[in-house]
Formats: sequence, C-alpha cells, structure tokens
Amino acid sequence: MTEKFVAAIDQGTTSSRCIIFDQGGAIVAVDQREHRQIFPKPGWVEHDATEIWSKVQAVVAGALAKAGMRAEQLSALGITNQRETTVLWDRATGKPVHNAIVWQDTRTSALCAQLGAEDGQDRFRDATGLPLASYFSGPKAAWLLDNVPGLRTRAERGEIAFGTVDSWLIWNLTGGTDGGVHVTDVTNASRTMLMNLSTLEWDPSILAAMNVPEAILPEIRSSAEVYGTAVGQLAGVPVASALGDQQAAIFGQACYDTGTAKNTYGTGSFLLLNTGGRPVASKSGLITTVGYKIGDQAPVYCLEGSIAITGALVQWFRDQLGLIRSAAEIETLAASVEDNGGAYIVPAFSGLFAPYWRSDARGVITGLTRYVTKAHLARAVLEATSWQTREVVDAMYQDSGVRITTLKVDGGMTVNKLLMQHQADVLGVPVIRPKVSETTCLGAAYAAGLATGVWAGLDELKAHWQKDVEWVPAMEAQVRESEYDNWRKAVERSLGWHE
Ligand code: G3P
Repeated sequence: MTEKFVAAIDQGTTSSRCIIFDQGGAIVAVDQREHRQIFPKPGWVEHDATEIWSKVQAVVAGALAKAGMRAEQLSALGITNQRETTVLWDRATGKPVHNAIVWQDTRTSALCAQLGAEDGQDRFRDATGLPLASYFSGPKAAWLLDNVPGLRTRAERGEIAFGTVDSWLIWNLTGGTDGGVHVTDVTNASRTMLMNLSTLEWDPSILAAMNVPEAILPEIRSSAEVYGTAVGQLAGVPVASALGDQQAAIFGQACYDTGTAKNTYGTGSFLLLNTGGRPVASKSGLITTVGYKIGDQAPVYCLEGSIAITGALVQWFRDQLGLIRSAAEIETLAASVEDNGGAYIVPAFSGLFAPYWRSDARGVITGLTRYVTKAHLARAVLEATSWQTREVVDAMYQDSGVRITTLKVDGGMTVNKLLMQHQADVLGVPVIRPKVSETTCLGAAYAAGLATGVWAGLDELKAHWQKDVEWVPAMEAQVRESEYDNWRKAVERSLGWHE
C-alpha cells in the first residue's frame, strides 16, 4: 500500500502555516509566515486579505519543498482559519474591497448596541447561539456595506462576495475569478451570527435585521467534503475540509465524545466542550457553536468559552512595552520571582468576551506598588491566561453541571511550563498536552482525509492520540481561591471603562 499524505493550511490571526501529515497523523513538514497587523484606530484591527493569500501560497510552497514532495502526492487539502474575520471582495476582479476586519476589532460595538436596543444583547441568541458583540462577522459585513462608498448597491447587484477567511482561501485555491467556488462550512458560518444553528441555513429574519443582502453570502456546506479541486501549485488536489480553527483543534484532539473538552492557547484562548447532537443554550456567558459536521452526518455542537486576549498579551508585553525580546523569554523572567508580587493584569483590549461580553471593558493593571518589578508583571501576564480560563471552566460547569476532570490543551503557549503548571493549579485538575500539539492543522487534515478515504472513521483517528505531558495541580485550595478573588476584583475594575 502506498503511503498517503494530507496537507492542511491554518490561516491564523498572526500567521499562516501549512503542515503536511502522514497517514499516522505525524508531521512530515511545516512552514509558517507572519502577516501584518494593521491598527488604524484604538480598538480597530485589520488584515490585508491579499497579503494573507500570498503568505498562504508561500507556506504551501515552503511545506512541499521541506517535505521534498509534489502536489500529486497529496491526497487532500484541509483548511482551517481564524474565525469571524470578514472579507468582502469583488467577484469580477478578485480584489478585496477593503482590508479584512479582524475578529478582535471593536468598531461594530455601537451597531451591536443599536441592534440590541429593544430586545437586548441576546436578541439573536436562540437562533444563532451568540450574544450581540463586535466579535462576530455579520455586523462587520454590515459595517463595510454602510461605510465603503457605493458598496451596498454593488452588493445588491450580486457583484460582491462575503467570506470568512475559509471562503476567501477556498475561492482563491479553486480558481478565483476563473471559476473559484464560493462556499463556507457550518463551523465558520456559525460565527457570522447570520446562520440559524438548528437549520444550518442563513436566517432570513437576521439578514433583514442586519441589512445584509443574501446575494453576497457563500453556500453553507459540511466541514468535510470535496468543495472543489485546487488549481495552481496544488493543481489537482481536492480541497476537502474547512473548519474554524478552534473547531479544528477539538477535532484534532479527538474530542468526539459528548463531555470531552479542549483549550487552545493562541492569540486568544478558546475552550470548547463537545455537547453532542443538540445545541445547548448557555445561561452563563458561553456561546453555542457548531463543532463539526462530517459530510452528510448529523452536526455535533459545542459550548465555547472564548477569551480574546491571552498569547496576544505576551506579544503586547514584548512589542508594545519592550520588556522582553522574545515570547519565550517571558517564562525565564516570570520564573525569576516566586509570585506576581500582588499585580494582576486584565487584558480587556477588545472588551471582555466570555463570560462577560462587555465591550465597555478595557485593560487594567491592579495591585501596583514600588515592590513590583517587570518579572512580577511577566507572571501577571501569564496568570491572566489561566485565570480567564478558570472563569470559562466555571461557566461550563454552571451550564452543563459537568465538572471537567482533566483538560486537554494545545497551541503555542503550551510550551510554557510555568503557565501550564499555573493552569493546572488554578483549575485543580490535571492539564494534558498531546504528542502532536499542532491540533488545529491536524483536525483540518483529519476532516479532509475522512472526506477522501484516507482514514476510515473517528475510531481510527482517536487511536492516533497520544499523551505527551501532564501537569498535576499543586496549589493549596485556600491560596487558589484567595488569588481568584483578587483576579475577580481586578476584572471588576476593567468593566465600564470605555463608554
Ligand atoms: O475566534 C477567533 C479565533 O478563531 C482566533 O484564533 O488561533 O488565530 O488566535 P487564533
């Protein structure tokens, strides 16, 4: 039997990568490139979608070269992406009509407040699983239609295409202006606030309320099926999966059973709990989202705790404050002191997401005295990630009544042992990282491989999962709860800062 290989593209918030996997789910080659973060005003975050497409092409070429492979050797290509980030492009020229509005961007806060003026922030929650917040794509598309001169008329004439980054990449990969397919998958569509969670179709009443013309929308498809065939350097390769990056990670972590959960530590952190075949409504500030849908099988839903800023706080500490030279340095600096010296940092740079959903929150540092050094602040930076995770784990318990007994983790920040130990300490449960911690790409590759017969089913994928490291809680319960109180006091101070 000849060995089969599957490639996955992970188009993330700060970088794009391409990973080629073998049939055992092991990594053959990786290539990665960063793209520009554009901050036109406080709270605004944009990406150049054209730059993203060229970086994606470069990492595909890079991964093939490192693997010493040709496109013909790939059985399938999977796509996973930063979610909610919104691109509108001209169908005839293939050019974006504006920079992409990134998920972290807060410019639609006023629009969301206006949409919720009468029926409140949960106006569309029953239909979409989401609260009205600047995070989601639908209001971002509406903002572009209202603010780019002449765009609404062109959109109504069918000249403009909307997409989250999955759609933008699939359209380009399959030919762009020369026959590219305009599709999205259910997981990405579930982040637009325009899709009905039960029917998995665009919801006409929400489209009308947000004034988004149906003519711009992609077709909603499953997460694992062949959408089209790639052209260019990947000519002939079936483009066979798309999942939002957090859903891809839960798929790559083999969380296929109801009640299993994972937390991914990237720019932000996103804790997803598999709730099975039914969308579970949250009463505790979580969101309900589609986990995955394999071909014509029934969808699987998740509860999600979305935290906007975790790894991005380390980047801010490095780039904006200049207190460390590399992200890795934060661990050494933080480890040079015993504790946080009383300091807490609440990184509400884009307001606070779960479980608060407060766009009026802004970042604060509390507990400062002259005793506090940059090493204490480094600890506070790392601890902000674990405390925010503790809050969403508590919300999961309130919503589901299920206490997690271990937490599967992945993502860039899991190389930080000090952070992972603190995470286990503040949750009071073991934290486990798998051997292949590139679970986002792995999940997209798995879905693409399922769609093309590389793998037979979920049991085969589950058998690939192997534990690498386990961190066991070591903090006394009393210390943990008193520090948690301090954290919550700091959060209180961040709320209502920005009207
Ligand atoms: O919802 C936003 C999320 O998909 C971004 O993920 O890994 O790019 O921070 P990441």
